[in-house]
Amino acid sequence: MRVSADLLRTRVAGLDFQNPIVLAAGTAAYGRELAEVVDLTRLGGLVTKAVSPQPRAGAPAPRVAEFDGGMINAIGLANPGVDAVISEHLPWLATALPATRKLANIVGFAVHEFAEVVARLEAALGASAAGAIDGFELNVSCPNVKAGGMEFGADPAALAEVVRRTRAATQRPLFVKLSPTLPDIAGSARIAVEAGADALTLVNTLPGLVIDVGSRRSALGFGTGGVSGTALLPVGVLATWKVRRAVQVPLMGIGGVASAADALQYLVAGASLVGMGTAMLRDPRAPERVVAGLARWCAQQGVARLGDVVGTLRMPA
Ligand SMILES: Cc1cc2nc3c(=O)[nH]c(=O)nc-3n(C[C@H](O)[C@H](O)[C@H](O)COP(=O)(O)O)c2cc1C
Repeated sequence: MRVSADLLRTRVAGLDFQNPIVLAAGTAAYGRELAEVVDLTRLGGLVTKAVSPQPRAGAPAPRVAEFDGGMINAIGLANPGVDAVISEHLPWLATALPATRKLANIVGFAVHEFAEVVARLEAALGASAAGAIDGFELNVSCPNVKAGGMEFGADPAALAEVVRRTRAATQRPLFVKLSPTLPDIAGSARIAVEAGADALTLVNTLPGLVIDVGSRRSALGFGTGGVSGTALLPVGVLATWKVRRAVQVPLMGIGGVASAADALQYLVAGASLVGMGTAMLRDPRAPERVVAGLARWCAQQGVARLGDVVGTLRMPA
């Protein structure tokens, strides 16, 4: 099958993606670690693991466990910190994947920390690591430690302030990633956009608890964790549809995608990009198969550009 180069191509927040499939934050490390098992050059993009101001050791083992509907994890946002990311990972990202868009996932535990990390990455990108990072994705599902532990995304004032300050620190595209537990995800989306977000990512993991009944202990060392994989698919698709109706900016839909049919649900609901995490951890070839499946589906359906299906959902009146 001959596929037009433009069939799957999409432009989001000023960035060209060769196809809409993006590896989700935290599941692709900083790219290089995965490059031997996944052909990253064939994907639309990747989002790095979280980057925080200081190194974080993260949660005790076991950090992940599987259940029938997917996976639960409590990694604790373990990462080497922004300085080590700059010295150890940006040089590789700057040259290895010219056609694949790279977003850095940013995490903070106080309002000022997000902008601080972005400013430090920007300084490196302006110096030796030009081209390593095309944009940023803010993980606002983490606790605001200085304000009693409420997550940033659930506090309108904190959410607006995090986005505003980060917006001032970069001119690159800014994605804001929201949690499926937000009581009014459309309202949070509007706040993020008004504060300067160029795009939104929906959704992060859903809180959960998996119990090993034999030992009567949690399956995770931390206790509770975040649910990802199949169980999250309808949750993420609903969030995408709700947010699509509330804001104009492009969306990245994430949660439970394992096949081209799953990815199409997000596209029809209104996402321009589709993230994959858990399915890729189970089978590193899954994202490439989804890309090929999307091209096949377009050919079968006589769709000239995959972008034409974005937001075409017909809901009951
Ligand atoms: C092991 C693991 C680590 C993750 N780490 C992050 C992270 O650092 N930052 C973030 O915003 N999301 C993180 N996530 C959430 C994913 O990016 C994604 O939103 C979620 O897993 C749902 O997609 P999936 O069902 O395709 O895995 C992580 C998920 C997993 C499974």
